[in-house]
Amino acid sequence: MLKVKNLNKKYGSVHAVKNLSFKLEKGERLGFLGPNGAGKTTTMQIIAGALAPSSGTVSVAGHDVFESPKKVKKQIGYLPEIPPVYEDMKVCDYLKYVSQLKGILKVNLSKEIDEAIAKTNLESVANRYIQHLSKGFRQRVGLAQALLGNPPLLILDEPTVGLDPQQIIEIRELIKNLEGHSVLLSSHILSEVQNICTKAIIIKNGQIILEDNIQDLIHNESSSIVHLKLNSFTKEIENNLLNLNYVKHCAQKNNKIEIHLTNSSDELLIELSKFLINSGVGLIEQSPQDLKLENIFIELTK
Ligand SMILES: Nc1ncnc2c1ncn2[C@@H]1O[C@H](COP(=O)(O)OP(=O)(O)O)[C@@H](O)[C@H]1O
Ligand SMILES: [Mg+2]
Repeated sequence: MLKVKNLNKKYGSVHAVKNLSFKLEKGERLGFLGPNGAGKTTTMQIIAGALAPSSGTVSVAGHDVFESPKKVKKQIGYLPEIPPVYEDMKVCDYLKYVSQLKGILKVNLSKEIDEAIAKTNLESVANRYIQHLSKGFRQRVGLAQALLGNPPLLILDEPTVGLDPQQIIEIRELIKNLEGHSVLLSSHILSEVQNICTKAIIIKNGQIILEDNIQDLIHNESSSIVHLKLNSFTKEIENNLLNLNYVKHCAQKNNKIEIHLTNSSDELLIELSKFLINSGVGLIEQSPQDLKLENIFIELTK
């Protein structure tokens, strides 16, 4: 659906995007994760054809963004960081205006607008002026304009930034429930990407530092490590732990015991805590090690 190859963007001396390459397959929701200034917005602007790169190529559904910009723009629904809404227009008039800009045929106009309004739950405010809407509703209007024309690829640049927690949940649910679109969504919040996306790319200083499928990132080897703080720890307890069929490894590290389990399921963690309590070792603390993705993300956002 989307292929980005060796993309570079320099703003004078600032090298904002460095040799970035990635792919987005049809139907995937790819999280584009990174701290502020990582190059997310710049990359998305280039993909949407709103900014020229210094070098590199982008193709959408087989069309090159720079050679066939019109064809590519038909394939993309773009929600920029600041929603491009006109405050002195009513929601329905604004969506009609955008539909005309997108070249949607007159016969399809009202059906397209009604669909975009329904998908973003804007029915109750369709006749209100945008300036009178809350930030959450404005963001939904931004999303509705991206959906007009039913583009196969959605580029959503930090769609929940600046919203209150309730609005964040609503927008996330809306995006998760959109069917028939491939999505590239940027965020500086790890949990948001875990919640909405199927794959993630982490970028820092314009470069990819990690790329994987979300489930693989969560269920990796390190996610099955547990740290224990016990009142007493003897050789006998160590042997008893090692005799459990779900314990692969057990070692004392500083004042904690590190245990490697065969997997990271909640059931296993419950089993382990039951065993420890029953053996009377004085369980003070049992904490699963942070997910690898979380660790990397914290490291890079420092
Ligand atoms: N128009 C611009 N002129 C100069 N530098 C810019 C411009 N836009 C972005 N930058 C710089 O490029 C880098 C990447 O910015 P951006 O793509 O907005 O990152 P993100 O969206 O991940 O926060 C930052 O260092 C930023 O200061
Ligand atoms: Mg940005």
